[in-house]
Amino acid sequence: MSIVEEIHKRKTFGIISHPDAGKTTLTEKLLLFGGAIKSAGAVKSNKISQHAASDFMEIEKQRGISVSTSVMGFDYKGMKINLLDTPGHRDFAEDTYRTLTAVDSVVMIIDCVKGVEIQTEKLMEVCRMRSTPVISFINKLDREGRDPYELLDEIEEKLSIKVRPLSWPIGMGKSFKGVYSLYNKKLILFTPSKTKINTDDFVEIDDIQSSSLDEYIGEKDANQLRDDVELVEGIYPSFDVNEYLAGNLAPVFFGSAVNNFGVQELLDCFIDIAPVPRPRHTALREILPEEDKFSGFIFKIHANIDPKHRNRIAFLRVCSGRFERKKNYFHVRHEKNYRFSNATAFMAQSKETIDEAFPGDIVGLYDTGNLKIGDTLTEGEAGNYKGIPSFSPEIFKEVENLDAMKSKQLDKGLRQLMDEGVAQLFTFEMGARKVVGTVGQLQFEVIQHRLKHEYGATCRFRQMNLFKACWFASDSKKKLDEFIKSKYRHIARDKDGKVVFMAETKQWLMMVQENFPEIEFHFTSEF
Ligand code: G4P
Repeated sequence: MSIVEEIHKRKTFGIISHPDAGKTTLTEKLLLFGGAIKSAGAVKSNKISQHAASDFMEIEKQRGISVSTSVMGFDYKGMKINLLDTPGHRDFAEDTYRTLTAVDSVVMIIDCVKGVEIQTEKLMEVCRMRSTPVISFINKLDREGRDPYELLDEIEEKLSIKVRPLSWPIGMGKSFKGVYSLYNKKLILFTPSKTKINTDDFVEIDDIQSSSLDEYIGEKDANQLRDDVELVEGIYPSFDVNEYLAGNLAPVFFGSAVNNFGVQELLDCFIDIAPVPRPRHTALREILPEEDKFSGFIFKIHANIDPKHRNRIAFLRVCSGRFERKKNYFHVRHEKNYRFSNATAFMAQSKETIDEAFPGDIVGLYDTGNLKIGDTLTEGEAGNYKGIPSFSPEIFKEVENLDAMKSKQLDKGLRQLMDEGVAQLFTFEMGARKVVGTVGQLQFEVIQHRLKHEYGATCRFRQMNLFKACWFASDSKKKLDEFIKSKYRHIARDKDGKVVFMAETKQWLMMVQENFPEIEFHFTSEF
């Protein structure tokens, strides 16, 4: 098969949602429909039920054994689908942001009872930054939720994206009977089943005007559905796939993942409309997936938490050309060639060594510490892939070494944990004070625990009252130097050596911005 044919078979996506909206359930149902698993219960939730490092560690250990849960590949209707898992816990939001750089589209789940929740808003912001196409799935229609029209309005308002329903629920809560697909004008009624997909159990109705609809769902619901469909077709413009691909319009599906309602409609539409791998930008130029030469980037590193086997798996997203095992590839940051003889592909429930991979695929590379998040591998070209920014953390703490004899171990441990993207490290220009920044408290416990158990280093964290880390730039070198000089005590370097202004409060940052109008301040490292 040619590279172009391989590319056109691939759809790589992620599911985003607020915890508890149904991500694990939907993932499992998609795998069931895709035939990749036979019964429910196979997909482990990556939820951390309590705010505890031990909980996290347990999950990481389990995942270390079965890293395949990070990427689930399956075939459906002749397409190769790669579903990338994203952590559910808000403290690991940064990990999710990075995973979103490796997908070509996203399915966003919304709980019909709770509507748009905060985590979904944040994740959608990241999707908007990259114009990622989004399909929305409104879940749990078997519960008494909010009015569908109201939910659609809320998505438009809170997530700043236009919507277009492509399925419509029949009833809700106790009287929920299924969904009608506006996309392929079909009504499919399943018998609710939490554990398996029984394709013998569904009926298909091609024309909702036909009287057989009344027989299946009753006259009242049949008439209500006919009215709703007429109304929806009247209010919303017809579905424009290009608007979806541009990230401006989210098609919306309704359903109940746990009962298999609406999942197939979602999957069938996804197969038709979701984008195949698209061009991506490096610092040098736009790279097309069908180019002959291989290139890709690392978006995630999974550490082996067992200190006896300190190897890690780096997740590479193939962006162009053909990846081949045992070939030498150029590591752009190190300006050196490396050979990866142990490359792995991920299937729904297993991982296997592979000899080649194509754009859209995720390859696991065993690594002993040469790779870090954001690294690019190529067949010689020097451009690094763009689009894996760091975001300003929300909590900052200074690291205090508690064992002077182990400062080397502490430095090494911190560096490696930062390479994995567990948190961000900022080093102040003055006094070389080290500050760890995170999105949530949980990471501090994880870092402390891992430093002790994997590196033998003990440390304490001291709370710092900082508002944000701001990356900054100016067209005028003179103004930049003046600014750095005047704010020297508040200047630090990030992991890549970029200068960062550590703002103590929002008001103070605003004042500084007024006083230095030639300096641009950003809450992300890429702008
Ligand atoms: P998450 O990964 O997004 O955090 O959510 P997850 O799939 O774990 O789902 C969260 C809870 O919502 C689960 O219940 C799950 O069964 C339930 N759920 C998912 N889809 C539906 C649906 O369509 N309707 C209803 N009513 N519930 C749904 P739980 O009690 O936390 O776990 P479990 O014991 O049921 O597995």
